[in-house]
This record gives sequence, structure tokens and C-alpha cells, in this order.
Amino acid sequence: MKHRVYLTRRIPEQGINILRKQRYKLAINTLDKPVPYQTLLRQVAHADALLCMLSDRIDRGLMDAGRNLKVISAYAVGIDNIDVTYASKKGIIVTNTPGVLTEATAEVTWALLFACARRVTEADRYVRAGRFKVWGPTLLLGRLMGGKTLGIIGAGRIGQSVGQKARAFGMKVLYFNRSRQPSFEKEASARRASLKQLLKESDFITLHLPLTKDTRHFIGLKELRMMKPTAFFVNVARGPIVREADLAYALKHNLIAGAGLDVYENEPKVHPGLLKMDNVTLLPHLGSATVESRTRMAEIAAENIVAVLKGKQPQFRVN
Ligand code: DGY
Repeated sequence: MKHRVYLTRRIPEQGINILRKQRYKLAINTLDKPVPYQTLLRQVAHADALLCMLSDRIDRGLMDAGRNLKVISAYAVGIDNIDVTYASKKGIIVTNTPGVLTEATAEVTWALLFACARRVTEADRYVRAGRFKVWGPTLLLGRLMGGKTLGIIGAGRIGQSVGQKARAFGMKVLYFNRSRQPSFEKEASARRASLKQLLKESDFITLHLPLTKDTRHFIGLKELRMMKPTAFFVNVARGPIVREADLAYALKHNLIAGAGLDVYENEPKVHPGLLKMDNVTLLPHLGSATVESRTRMAEIAAENIVAVLKGKQPQFRVN
């Protein structure tokens, strides 16, 4: 019998073609938005494999509904939307797409760092609003990055890639990580620090932790108060790692100088306080959004499914 695969969103064609070649019975949500949970329940009831997005809630109820479900293939590296413990209990394999989005996410981190330091999005709004009448000696002054300290919270693949690029800008690099990363220290001239030391000494702070029960609200008012009033904070990891209301408070009361955010606590909602501020750059979760990364993610997510359905070990197994 043909295996059935359900895709919760249309992914790049290269991935779909890999599944088509296997002659699986494919069902794809063709709406340009997440599939409602009730529809997902119905679809998963017949599926052998599920290819899902980070915006889909893959919980116990869903896995119980998927009587034939053998594999949940995440089109992402982050798998905090999936109850992996329960999947393991049920013998469902969970896979993801690490590696191929490291550079894309590191580059978006730098885009946000520059946007913060040189007020890029604020300046763009200024010009579009017709306010640029004449060059000014103190118009929209930003902050130099060269010679400053970059603090990296979470020195995994993405954090390390961000740190390696800091050398080109003559920045000092501090990192906070559970374990020491000797090769990163060498390549990026990075120094391991306690969280407190990093927060106190850094001029720019970027966040790259995975979202787990231990990292939820890892950054709140207490941590924001430790930062320099001239510091900029960038989050490209997951929104709930930061207490968004505390961040909005810190920005409003000038506890820090600005922020660059790609992710939100209640995505796609954004704290209304943040929407009003000129010193905040907001992106709609674009970390991996390059043609190159999203194409490779599609291929890997599909290949992971093919491997499991053929009884082989997938390349990127999480559980
Ligand atoms: C991921 O894959 O976890 C990223 O957040 C996608 O941009």
C-alpha cells in the first residue's frame, strides 16, 4: 500500500519532488497560512508521515490521532512545538533540518545588529516619510560596532557563526554556554563568561538558545537591568526565551538602547509596546529565509521522511 504523507504547508518544489518520486500519496495544505488544528487532526489520522512547520502544534492529541504515524519531519531546526517525549513514547521518529540554516540565521543576526547600531529601519522610515530635507551633522547618529564587545548567549552552531563574523568588525567576543567551546574560542578569539558578566560587559547581545522548559523566560527584567543602558539586544532564537513585556518595559524606560527581534513570545503577535518604538527593528521570523536554506531544508525534511518510511535511519533524527 502507498504511504501517505501530509505536508502542513507547501514547501519548495525540490522537497516535494523527492516525495513524489517515491510515489507516496501526498496531501498538502495549499492555503498560504497554517492549517487549523482540527484539520490537522483529520489529516494526520491517515498519515504515515507528517511534514510540519514550527507554527504547528504537534501535541499528544495529534499523535494519538495519527494511528499510522511513523515520522514527524520538522521543516526547521527548532522542535519546541513538538512533544518529542511523547513521540518517543509512541515510537514516532522526530527529525529536523540542522546545519543548512546556520549561516542564514547568523546573517540575519548581523542584519539586526547593524539595523540596531546604525538605526537602519528608523532611517528608512525617516526618508520615506519625506523628512530628509538636508544632511545634518547630528542626524540619526548611531553607534560604532568596531572595538565593542559582542555577547553571545548560546554558542551552538548559530551562535558560533555569529561570533566568527565579529572578528571582521574588530569586536571582542564573550560567550555564555553550558560547556566550553575551545575551537570557537580559538577561531573567534572568544572568551567564555558567566551570564552576569556577559550582560554587564557587552555592548551588543545576541540570543541563540533553544527553547526548553529551562530556557523559557531566561531573559527578564532582572537580566535586562544588568545590561548597559547603551546596549542593544538581538533575539533570533525563540520568542518565549524572553519575557516580552519586560523587554518592552526596559526599552520604554531606557534600561537598554534598542533591540532587534526576529521572534516573539506569542508569535505572530507582537507586544504592542514594541510596535511603537523607533529603536526596535522587527522581522517576521526570517532566520532561515534564504532561497538556499529553505530549499535545502525542504530536501532534508523530505529525505528524512523517505529514510524512515524505508526503514532506514534518517540523517537528522532528534529522538
Ligand atoms: C528554525 O528552523 O528553527 C528557524 O527558526 C526557522 O527560521
